Amino acid sequence: MSESNLTVEPAITTRLPLEAASAEAYPYLQGLRALPTLPSALFHFLGLIADPAASEQQLAAFIWKDPALLARVISTMNFHSSERSFPANYLQQAIASLDRGYIRSLAYTTPLLCSFEPWKPAFCSVLFWERSLLCANACQALARQLRLPAPEQYYVAGLLHDIGYLVFLQKKPEALATVLERWAAQPAQLLEIERQVMGINHCRLGLAVGRKLNLDSWMLPAIAHHHTPARDSDWFTRITSIGSAFCNWKGRDFFPSRTLARNDWRQEMEEILNVLLPPTARQNSAQLLEAMESCVPPVRKWIAELLQEPAGNTHRAELSFDPPRAKIAAAAACS
Ligand SMILES: [Fe+2]
Repeated sequence: MSESNLTVEPAITTRLPLEAASAEAYPYLQGLRALPTLPSALFHFLGLIADPAASEQQLAAFIWKDPALLARVISTMNFHSSERSFPANYLQQAIASLDRGYIRSLAYTTPLLCSFEPWKPAFCSVLFWERSLLCANACQALARQLRLPAPEQYYVAGLLHDIGYLVFLQKKPEALATVLERWAAQPAQLLEIERQVMGINHCRLGLAVGRKLNLDSWMLPAIAHHHTPARDSDWFTRITSIGSAFCNWKGRDFFPSRTLARNDWRQEMEEILNVLLPPTARQNSAQLLEAMESCVPPVRKWIAELLQEPAGNTHRAELSFDPPRAKIAAAAACS
């Protein structure tokens, strides 16, 4: 996850084939129905759903910020669409037009991350959300600066690029703590340590999960290769790799921070931009970094709001109003 784990490969053929069958992912995929979300995120979501004044756009905006909810909606839409893949700009509109009954069932059947205490404070699940959201916004800002078509697609790739970690958290939270301990001693070997401890690294697992959830094919290379981008990688992979490295630069990293000075981080970021972007774009590296920097305050604000008690506490009122349903939801959520 650290920038030290981002290596630029010389040729695309050296990287993991997207067609590779992932037998080592099988134990993680068994019984996997959906990615888990944070309890605080789900409580806020339930609060919105229970609020008759909340608009469809507000519900869609919340889903748009949550990796688990967004992945689930995309998965559902792709399973029920003959087109197989939605353009990301259309996806936002499609989410806003979802039936409230579907959104309610989405909330009640989305798993929760129930046990992430063992490695606190070194690994904080909230950090996953902040990191994912920052990466998503940084990727979108970068895509806009580079005038790439459909910047929303880069947002989605950035939000979902580390979904392998969500499944690690869901299935083997204690083993992930072991990864962290070993990585602290060998900071450059993260993916190999994950393979040794978890049986698979989070990129390969994320790829397998993306396939299982029927995510769009254009997202998969970014999920699989964001730690090993190549000069000839597709734009999604390169932009996601830059967004991921930017998160590390801003200290939004799962693992212990390296002790590089700010200027050193900036130099590393500029080197990454120089390697992964075409010469015309490299000339504006300061502008590109500034565009990504502008994403930090709104993301921090949203995460701070996420951790606050929802106004009016309407979600708790709803849960207490219908205890059997809440009990079923909680049991399903923690499975
Ligand atoms: Fe990653």
